[in-house]
Amino acid sequence: MGRRVLITGSEGHLGRALRDAFLMLGDDVTGIDLPGMGAEIELDLDDRATAWTYKWEKLKFDIVVCNAKTQTWNCHHQLALYARQCIINISSIYGALGSDPSLYEGTEVEPTPAWYAASKGAMVALTKWQSCNLAPVRSNCVCPGGIFRGHSDNFNRRYAAKVPLGRMATEDDIVGPVLFLCSDAARYITGQVLMVDGGYSAW
Ligand SMILES: NC(=O)c1ccc[n+]([C@@H]2O[C@H](COP(=O)([O-])OP(=O)(O)OC[C@H]3O[C@@H](n4cnc5c(N)ncnc54)[C@H](O)[C@@H]3O)[C@@H](O)[C@H]2O)c1
Repeated sequence: MGRRVLITGSEGHLGRALRDAFLMLGDDVTGIDLPGMGAEIELDLDDRATAWTYKWEKLKFDIVVCNAKTQTWNCHHQLALYARQCIINISSIYGALGSDPSLYEGTEVEPTPAWYAASKGAMVALTKWQSCNLAPVRSNCVCPGGIFRGHSDNFNRRYAAKVPLGRMATEDDIVGPVLFLCSDAARYITGQVLMVDGGYSAW
């Protein structure tokens, strides 16, 4: 399609799946990730001293996908200002819902820390602000549920029991909704928060 796409956290699990999907559509992808991760732009987005002095204005993007697992929202917002068509903010179910500590007890998975919930909640609020203040650029938020990454049967079973569709997510489950929200089919959708969680939030 020839769109210019910026993806933060491009070398992580979801970032790589998103990069591949946009490339398959014929888009031009630029990734940002931490130094040493192999992205086109190597930068710690949580380090204001370097991230905020980067010459972003020399870059022009149609789509900005804010996917990196940063602790702060501010730098993602600075980047989003360079989107000409649409912004996707990747949040989490835990940006909109509390996490149930009993899910994690006696499993290998660490409970969700407070900073994570707060940073993901910020992406939801930012989406609302951007949609009202940056239009006609569209801004939407995707909240994935837990993505399966070789978790133990114990955790996987417990998690799946909380999901109407009966399983954890895969990266591909998240990619489709992102592509839809970036497409012309979603041209009248902005400021929305899409839970992509197999129904976790619907109980
Ligand atoms: N994995 C899940 O179950 C899950 C569930 C809900 C939401 N999410 C969200 O999906 C997004 C992608 O997560 P993932 O599972 O692919 O994680 P991941 O750890 O595989 O990838 C995250 C990427 O972000 C990069 N990153 C982290 N801090 C950064 C910084 N300060 N500056 C630049 N890059 C930085 C990392 O190097 C990594 O490549 C995250 O925003 C995460 O919160 C993940």
